[in-house]
Amino acid sequence: MKNIRNFCIIAHIDHGKSTLADRLLDETATVTKREAQAQLLDSMDLERERGITIKSHAIQMEYMYKGELYILNLIDTPGHVDFSYEVSRSIAACEGALLVVDAAQSIQAQTISNLYLALENDLEIIPVLNKVDLPSANPEEVTDDIVDLLGCKAEDVIPASAKTGIGIQEILAAVIERIPAPKGNVDEPLQALIFDSVYNPFRGVETYFRVLNGSIKKNQQIKFVATGNTYGADEVGTLKLTQAPKQEIKAGDVGYLITGIKDAREVKVGDTITDAKNPTKNAIAGFEDVKPMVFAGIYPVDTEDYEELRNSMEKLQLNDASLVFEPESSAALGFGFRCGFLGMLHLEIIQERLEREFDMTVITTVPNVSYHAFTHKNPDEIILVNNPSDLPEPSSLNRVEEPFIKATIITKSDFVGPVMSLCIEKRGQIVAQTYLTTERVELNFDMPLAEIVFDFYDRLKTVSKGYASFDYSPIGMRASKLVKVDVLLNAQPVDALSALLHQDNAYDIGKRMCEKLRELIPRQQFDIPIQAAIGAKIISRETVKALRKDVTAKCYGGDISRKRKLLEKQKKGKKRMRAVGNVEIPQEAFMAVLKLN
Ligand code: GTP
Repeated sequence: MKNIRNFCIIAHIDHGKSTLADRLLDETATVTKREAQAQLLDSMDLERERGITIKSHAIQMEYMYKGELYILNLIDTPGHVDFSYEVSRSIAACEGALLVVDAAQSIQAQTISNLYLALENDLEIIPVLNKVDLPSANPEEVTDDIVDLLGCKAEDVIPASAKTGIGIQEILAAVIERIPAPKGNVDEPLQALIFDSVYNPFRGVETYFRVLNGSIKKNQQIKFVATGNTYGADEVGTLKLTQAPKQEIKAGDVGYLITGIKDAREVKVGDTITDAKNPTKNAIAGFEDVKPMVFAGIYPVDTEDYEELRNSMEKLQLNDASLVFEPESSAALGFGFRCGFLGMLHLEIIQERLEREFDMTVITTVPNVSYHAFTHKNPDEIILVNNPSDLPEPSSLNRVEEPFIKATIITKSDFVGPVMSLCIEKRGQIVAQTYLTTERVELNFDMPLAEIVFDFYDRLKTVSKGYASFDYSPIGMRASKLVKVDVLLNAQPVDALSALLHQDNAYDIGKRMCEKLRELIPRQQFDIPIQAAIGAKIISRETVKALRKDVTAKCYGGDISRKRKLLEKQKKGKKRMRAVGNVEIPQEAFMAVLKLN
């Protein structure tokens, strides 16, 4: 155990975490040239394309240092706020962390939020100043920022370039010298933390764990504490570039487990694995079930594809336990599913995976957060509102509560004004304003989650000219004045276009929704009135004017092939259209609320 080191890399997005991980694998010869492929740890195609780490993974390296062989387990962590619970579990499996800070960008919001998670878990922090090769790097200034933040010495900060290889050996030496070896007792009952799981279509769910006490052996009967389920350990091993099966994984080490489980929901990140016959008395603290934060309807474009969509969603859920869904029906869209996501990025990823992996074309409705409603009749009973149609009638409604978050924004002092105005417009309340340096300010706001789900991040980037970083964590439910805004097309309410909005925004957003819909809905042979309403009260109205002429009219007498081309073109444009009554609605219209600016 004394020659094992378990560590992770924490960083703000794009500060070079994956590139550094690749370098460490190179340096420890974990990867042969043939296997080397940029950003090796990001194994999903989608991850590689988007350049973000969605799922955390782990890899074991061997390194000779001062004549002794060390086992270094690198546990990769996802960088995006949508997946912050996974970050916290990977961090809990380590004794140390490399805190990577971009020498040109300095400390950003996620640097700080991840650092707090690491400090809460008593991790040894090794600050790494990355990208020192960049001409725009400010190594002295950024080192000062890091020293201020951590209260460390300037000599503790390792200047590095994951691109050119500067500092990589120093980093490996620091991992061995500064990070403590794992503690734990091999003779105690098995106690292992699940920090990740991956679905493999052939082998079922692969569970990644860190053994704290005892050991896990091949063919042992093991139990998951949170679910209470017992399984046989069909295979255990360590995570090299490929999996290396072993007879036993002991306290202090990291490994994988295969039990033949076919459903990702059976394996919960944060849960404790123990021995079925001789269970530990202590589950590892801090386990929580991940809760979806954002809800939206997903419908097939073609109503006939409903069953196929259900199959695809079930398959997706097998390998993404954080996706939840239940059937719902909409008068406008027919049968579909109300789905829960960890955040907007997660929603986009699911939609994209449905299209790529399952060849499904879907319509996603306006997302909303999850509200708590209470009626006069039962003022203490929570009614969960995940869908605009779940909101009780205004007359019976006692009160509504909405989820709030603590937002951390780091920006340059020049942009404090515009960032504050934006947060206040988004119903934020300032809690703290701290100058990290004379140039850089950390702002803390309490804000409704609903306000950041939509266009907040894009607006923040615009008002700060890109010089703002943002992170958030939930802080519970607070009272809200919520109304349901309905949209009527041709005097018919279209339930799939309804949105839950705060009273103060309802008129403005209702009006802008109507304007946006007027732009998006193609003109047809008749006028289409578009109205927004709260209850029976119309708050806004626009009209899509009827076409004056038949579109093909100009082709009369002309070449038939031109006419056909025009019709083909129209057909293509129809792909993502849904006919509601006699009005054709394009997909963008359902998401119109998201792009009002
Ligand atoms: P996520 O995985 O999305 O959280 O991002 P990340 O922090 O892993 O960043 P990534 O490793 O993808 O690097 C972001 C960008 O910075 C890439 O274009 C890298 O090529 C570049 N980069 C990383 N390290 C260095 C470095 O030391 N020098 C220079 N010049 N560029 C670097």
